[in-house]
Amino acid sequence: MSFSALSAKIVVAAVSWFIVPVFLKSIVFKPPKCTSKRRLDGKVVMVTGANTGIGKVTAADLANRGALVYMACRNMDKASQAREDILKENPRANLKLVRLDLASLKSVRECADSFLKEESKLDILIENAGFGSLSHHLSEDDVELHMACNHLGHFYLTRLLLPALETSGTSDCKARIVVVSSRAHQFSPPLIDYDKLQTGKYWCYGYQQSKLANLLFVGHLNTLLGDKNVTVNALHPGTIRSDFWRNYLPNKLAYLFMFTFTFPFAAFTKTVLEGAQTQIMASVDESLEGVSGKYLLGCKIVSPAKYALDPVESEKLWRWSCSKTRLPLAI
Ligand SMILES: NC(=O)c1ccc[n+]([C@@H]2O[C@H](COP(=O)([O-])OP(=O)(O)OC[C@H]3O[C@@H](n4cnc5c(N)ncnc54)[C@H](OP(=O)(O)O)[C@@H]3O)[C@@H](O)[C@H]2O)c1
Repeated sequence: MSFSALSAKIVVAAVSWFIVPVFLKSIVFKPPKCTSKRRLDGKVVMVTGANTGIGKVTAADLANRGALVYMACRNMDKASQAREDILKENPRANLKLVRLDLASLKSVRECADSFLKEESKLDILIENAGFGSLSHHLSEDDVELHMACNHLGHFYLTRLLLPALETSGTSDCKARIVVVSSRAHQFSPPLIDYDKLQTGKYWCYGYQQSKLANLLFVGHLNTLLGDKNVTVNALHPGTIRSDFWRNYLPNKLAYLFMFTFTFPFAAFTKTVLEGAQTQIMASVDESLEGVSGKYLLGCKIVSPAKYALDPVESEKLWRWSCSKTRLPLAI
């Protein structure tokens, strides 16, 4: 093969490496969008982890619909910057910041207290914050960090804010709790092994187990909510090119390597704007009025892994969570 024929082949291969995924993404794998135009004037919303990623996009979207949005964040500098960014796009956005470190039950209580000092009702609670890593750590309350942050902190926040959600919900317009889980629950062992998590024997399953816990939590909470005017649903937002991966790939070079060589797989991943659509839909869409205990993916109700619907495991998780937070079993 001549040098020029070889160079032509290399150019074609390099161009296809970038063109094919862009084509696939825009034509074949077009991510679904929340199409609801519903306004939220007069509504109060809280989004956890709203300083970046899909949480920030969600906070901006709901504020654009007229809601007062509480951005519950761990890092207040990043939260102020995120608020400024949203205000640049929409100077009328009504955004308040509240500090929340989900890995600390004390911080969760303080967050709920300061919210309840300002507001008597809450219309939508979006439990978005989350982290994933391959390491084993314990929270300040001595709970495995993925379970502490992704499940237990949100469990506690929900319980403390439930009276405010019940105050705002009506039979025509129920208050909504939206729990951001992940398809990663399908890669979890089917039962939560509290001892192995705690001792670090399950170091590589921490994230998956916590995302399974999100679904089991939704299952039992939905049963307990009964005929209250509050719904709870879970979702998988998609695989998103957000900051989420920073704890798996802490090194900037590793990041660059991953994004260059996995570029073709961009056809199967989402931007943060695309990734936020399912939780925005779960929070506002009229078609989900009164719908509870479901799991959404790609703006549609789908079935999670069978073991994520197990009522016995759901109740076990509920008991464990109540004992860790010293709350009664009944809501
Ligand atoms: N990205 C994906 O592909 C993907 C896939 C499936 C599910 N999800 C889920 O989607 C949600 C949002 O992810 P993302 O992609 O937007 O990730 P992200 O950009 O990393 O955002 C995560 C948010 O959670 C916050 N957070 C982490 N630990 C916290 C803690 N202890 N207390 C309070 N806030 C905490 C982060 O705050 P800091 O800035 O202070 O760290 C950040 O605001 C997560 O629940 C994640 O598990 C993501």
